[in-house]
Amino acid sequence: MAKASVLSALRSAVPLVGPSLLAADFGNLEEEIRRLEQAGARLLHLDVMDGHFVPNLSFGIPVIEAVRRISDLPLDVHLMIEQPARHLAAFRRAGADLLTIHVEAVDDPAMVLDEIRRLGAGAGVSLSPPTDVRVLEKCLDHCDLVLTMSVMPGFGGQAFQDVALEKLRWLRAHARPGTLLSVDGGVNGDTIRACAEAGADVFVVGTALLGQPDYRKRMAELTSMARSSRSERVEHVG
Ligand code: DX5
Ligand code: ZN
Repeated sequence: MAKASVLSALRSAVPLVGPSLLAADFGNLEEEIRRLEQAGARLLHLDVMDGHFVPNLSFGIPVIEAVRRISDLPLDVHLMIEQPARHLAAFRRAGADLLTIHVEAVDDPAMVLDEIRRLGAGAGVSLSPPTDVRVLEKCLDHCDLVLTMSVMPGFGGQAFQDVALEKLRWLRAHARPGTLLSVDGGVNGDTIRACAEAGADVFVVGTALLGQPDYRKRMAELTSMARSSRSERVEHVG
């Protein structure tokens, strides 16, 4: 899908819960994706790990291609890999609509983000909990999405780290209007409201959604918590 239409569709749908397929049953991936589509998912978050940038391996290009064949939803690909620039074109060809690199994995994030845009994908930049959000100052004008990690990247099912909230507030004040602010890690019914109040638009959810008996009910609950907390924030700011 063309970048502009994906981004405008996502912007107009916020707040939105982005299911992370890392927590899916990979033996039944197609069924999992259908259940998420029927539950109202507006994008799918795919976590690519290389065993170097993070101490875990997940999946790569063949799985992105397979998901692309199965679903028309925007694919939000989170690259937890070293030297991501080497693989951007291949991930784009595989069907990624949004490609997010880690600021810690590149020397010149603005250059890599420009390359993602040149390939026709939405450009995202992510930062891990120990990384100072101000390192993003120089690349904020080059990205469409900022993915604030609220756990150390690499594994699902970890506890939410509050440091993400300060970063979201800083990003809400400093990022260009229209930049999607996403939060990833430990997002669940106990933490999603604080993320929404701090300014998040997209809430990546793995274990608190996948593996639950009723995806539609869980998505609706989480989305409504995010929506009510965001409206409080807007009223407060206004
Ligand atoms: C972790 C991944 C996350 C992960 C989140 O490195 O980036 O997307 O799937 O899982 P939960 O929601 O279980 O923390
Ligand atoms: Zn992720």
